Amino acid sequence: MCGIVGYVGTRKATDVCVAGLKRLEYRGYDSAGIAVVEDGKLEVVKVVGKLRNLSEALEETPLEGTLGIGHTRWATHGKPSKINSHPHVSNDGRIALVHNGIIENYAELRDELKQEGFEFVSETDTEVIVHLVARYYEGDLAAAFRRAARDLEGAFAVGIVSADHPGQMVAARRFSPLVVGIGAGENFIASDMGAVREWTDQVYVIEDDEMAVITRDGIELTDFEGKPVHHEPYTIPWPAEAAQKGGHKHFMHKEIHEQPRAMRECLLGRLTDAEKSITLEGLNMTEEEIKRLRKVVFTACGTAFHAGLVGRFLMEKLARIPAECDLAAELRARDPVVLEDTLAIVVSQSGETADTLVALRELKEKGASVVSVVNVVDSSIARESDGVVYIQAGPEIGVASTKAYTLQILTIALIAAHFADVRGAASEHELIELRRAMLSLPEQAQTLLDREDEVKAVAARYYDSHNSLYLGRGVNLPSAMEGALKLKEISYVHAEGYSAGEMKHGPIALVERSLFTVAIAVKGDVYDKMIGNIQEIKARSGPVIGVAFDGDTEIPRQADDVLWVPPCPELLTPITVAIPLQILAYHIADMLGREIDQPRNLAKTVTVE
Ligand code: F6R
Repeated sequence: MCGIVGYVGTRKATDVCVAGLKRLEYRGYDSAGIAVVEDGKLEVVKVVGKLRNLSEALEETPLEGTLGIGHTRWATHGKPSKINSHPHVSNDGRIALVHNGIIENYAELRDELKQEGFEFVSETDTEVIVHLVARYYEGDLAAAFRRAARDLEGAFAVGIVSADHPGQMVAARRFSPLVVGIGAGENFIASDMGAVREWTDQVYVIEDDEMAVITRDGIELTDFEGKPVHHEPYTIPWPAEAAQKGGHKHFMHKEIHEQPRAMRECLLGRLTDAEKSITLEGLNMTEEEIKRLRKVVFTACGTAFHAGLVGRFLMEKLARIPAECDLAAELRARDPVVLEDTLAIVVSQSGETADTLVALRELKEKGASVVSVVNVVDSSIARESDGVVYIQAGPEIGVASTKAYTLQILTIALIAAHFADVRGAASEHELIELRRAMLSLPEQAQTLLDREDEVKAVAARYYDSHNSLYLGRGVNLPSAMEGALKLKEISYVHAEGYSAGEMKHGPIALVERSLFTVAIAVKGDVYDKMIGNIQEIKARSGPVIGVAFDGDTEIPRQADDVLWVPPCPELLTPITVAIPLQILAYHIADMLGREIDQPRNLAKTVTVE
């Protein structure tokens, strides 16, 4: 996830682009850059790190041009560095391009272009696009991009300028977001409307395989064949102040809502067709190594630990490999025995959590090979691992982890399904069904978000309770633990995540009218037992919120309220179940007036043991 902006008009392009990028910094802050057309030449400034570094660089090297494109980067291919920063420029220095997305066939394209004599300077997937445009350029920038688009597989939103066209910008999209801001005597492009809200409340929301040729006074919208398309301008309904959070009240809310898109990006290039095997670049394990595995050990902290607990389940059920999951902070204390051919899977959003890093080193020292499941590219945990599969969630700013959690589970599910495939642990039919279900997850996530008001109404009935219990079994025991963690950390309401089967061994004594229970009772192996547990709570006058599959007729009879989730294979339900529980926690905390993005006593990245 990166942010792009562009400007053509009468103001200094750098002023507009930097201000727009500031509103997009939530999309990435590994590096930033800008290209401006000035006196028939392209001027490019790039920096590593946050945007203030770009502002400082531009103070030293002011650019006066009134046509420009800018980028703030969240590294996916290639580490954060100046050379990998956008804009990328054609070999003759005449065309510059910014990109958000992932080009899946970049390796083939790069080989092809290199053979034709194009020189590559970066490790990015993006650089192939600018060389492709240059390859097809015969004086018409839009025509060159149209031709290039035919060669590209994957996701992109791009902004392109050329020194030959000092008053024109080309922008295009496939899967990655793009809007064109409509001004008077000036126009804009951006990854989201928040970036242009300061100057206009009118935008065109560009759709897949559409592009725009933009000048000061005109915006021409076409498809990739050059056929005109028509969009009504959309009026941004919120004020400029709300821009950075894209109109959401909190980053946490925004990040919850980013899940469908983030899931799609996580699957890109890895799982494209249910009939085809999964490919995981970065895993760095041969088929032989995968077949030899005798054990998988997950380790992580907090929310990432809950994803690891789901991972343990997936690894055993799908790939039939014995698996454990350890809290990173506890792992060293028990001096774990590491067998030969053990794989440690280390899960971390930030890639910098001290406890997790220490656990990684311990396992490595004892002979385990390490694959990390990480969000932040080139973080310490990623660097110290033998292989890394990035979750590709984009920056997570809210302290409470939401999209990183569902994407950690999705990424681990990809790894487990891949292992099952290589080891022959599941039938072809089972694997196809599972992969098909994974491909449906983004759409199911969207359905769950569309039901936010129903969950909010449930939150309104329980927000003034002081105690709660979250119950689950099997693969959804971690869901109960994560649901409880979300509620307690942002609302400060006491919440306990517990195995429903363990209730009768003690905690059931807590049940009374003022303690509400969230019971995860989606259809699957443990469904009947969960119904029994709900009845035990109801018999003791405890109110119950059930989490059930759409169409279930039993749970509404047993529970006081129901959070509905669309049906999917039981092994993937921790991903869907997480979403209404995040929304429930969010609205309870909001109704209590809590500081949702920065709860008391917490930090986003915990770099002390
Ligand atoms: C809770 C939360 C934390 C983190 C934990 C590990 O919402 O975000 O529990 O999951 O501190 O952090 P990472 O994943 O960065 O290692």
